[in-house]
Amino acid sequence: MPQPQMVTGLPSRMDCALLLVTLMVALTGTVTPQTSSEPCPKRLVGEERRRTCPRPCKADLDCGSKRQCLCDGQCGLSCVAPGRTCPWPLAPREDAVARLLHPTHSFSALLEVRCKPGLTLPSGLDVVIRRCQGDRRWSGDEPICTAVLPEPGSSPPKCPLPKEVTSTFTIEGTATVGTSIRYSCQSGADIVGSAENYCQENQTWQYPHPVCKKVYCKSPGEVPQGYVVAVQKTEYEVGFDIHYLCKKNFHLDGPQKVTCLANGSWSAAPPFCRARCLIPAVRSRVMIDGVKRWPFDITDTMVPHGENVTFFCKHLHKHCSFSVAQSCFDGELRPPACYLEPTWLQFQLFPHRLVSEIETCDAADVETF
Ligand SMILES: *[C@@H]1O[C@H](CO)[C@@H](O)[C@H](O)[C@H]1NC(C)=O
Ligand SMILES: *[C@@H]1O[C@H](CO)[C@@H](O)[C@H](O)[C@H]1NC(C)=O
Repeated sequence: MPQPQMVTGLPSRMDCALLLVTLMVALTGTVTPQTSSEPCPKRLVGEERRRTCPRPCKADLDCGSKRQCLCDGQCGLSCVAPGRTCPWPLAPREDAVARLLHPTHSFSALLEVRCKPGLTLPSGLDVVIRRCQGDRRWSGDEPICTAVLPEPGSSPPKCPLPKEVTSTFTIEGTATVGTSIRYSCQSGADIVGSAENYCQENQTWQYPHPVCKKVYCKSPGEVPQGYVVAVQKTEYEVGFDIHYLCKKNFHLDGPQKVTCLANGSWSAAPPFCRARCLIPAVRSRVMIDGVKRWPFDITDTMVPHGENVTFFCKHLHKHCSFSVAQSCFDGELRPPACYLEPTWLQFQLFPHRLVSEIETCDAADVETF
């Protein structure tokens, strides 16, 4: 049967005498524990943090049959029953997690108490090791983990956000320790990497910052009969402008400028350079821009793309003319089906009888035609 008063009670007179002897021997430096290679701390009277220490000893002989002379932490060499255990498992706690570092929870087993994330011990550390003592208690005071509060007046600790990151991304979040942020590319481009990051306790990011996928516009291609006013490249950066010009006598049909947009497309399709049209009439006057003119009086006998040319046709039954407009589209200008080119003789001998020169039909005549 164990003798509780020997372990937890006050030392008897005999114990005190033994303790004194041990102390005196210890001070002369002649006692070393036989069972351990590590020196056992000396028991210092009045300095032990434990309320009680088992009976001190020098060797197993001092301890009787049920106990051994073993090193019991701050109590020094003491008579302990090695099979005695400390409380295990411990009640679950809000602030810390306890873990046995030995297979058993008997004398001299070690117990690790680790504070939960964000909490620390009064020492500033977040972990403490406790030892199972001869008095069946875990060594030291019951550890209490508390939240690390920022110093009043100081801002909470943050993770760094370099300028190149804040100029590339719109950041959602405060970047304070223990929180997450979200990235989105200011250019609207796709993100390569993690779009979310966590600011860790040590003020570093859990992941590397992502990057924005570089957006390019493909070359919009060449414009026939036109010039591209830009350095020829296979791809262009966002915001890049390409200007277009047409060769002489070609008409720009479409935008004069296109811009590379953030989504990789151009602001518009490239323009066309449209050709002029040869007026398909020689010995007839035509109406251009409200003026009736001989084609040979017009420079190059050509009209620009988009111009309307009005031809004169003869009424099938009456001696009058009516007009039909045709428009020039990219070099194509066809006379209307009703138009007949006068012969050279007609032109030379009877110029006043040319269809373009006779009177115009009444509106009523044209409608019934
Ligand atoms: C790119 O953006 C423009 C304007 O924001 C839009 O009109 C166009 O449809 C978009 N193109 C694509 C391929 O998403
Ligand atoms: C030619 O005629 C069409 C249709 O009547 C008109 O829309 C266009 O503006 C005209 N073109 C010119 C250059 O006057």
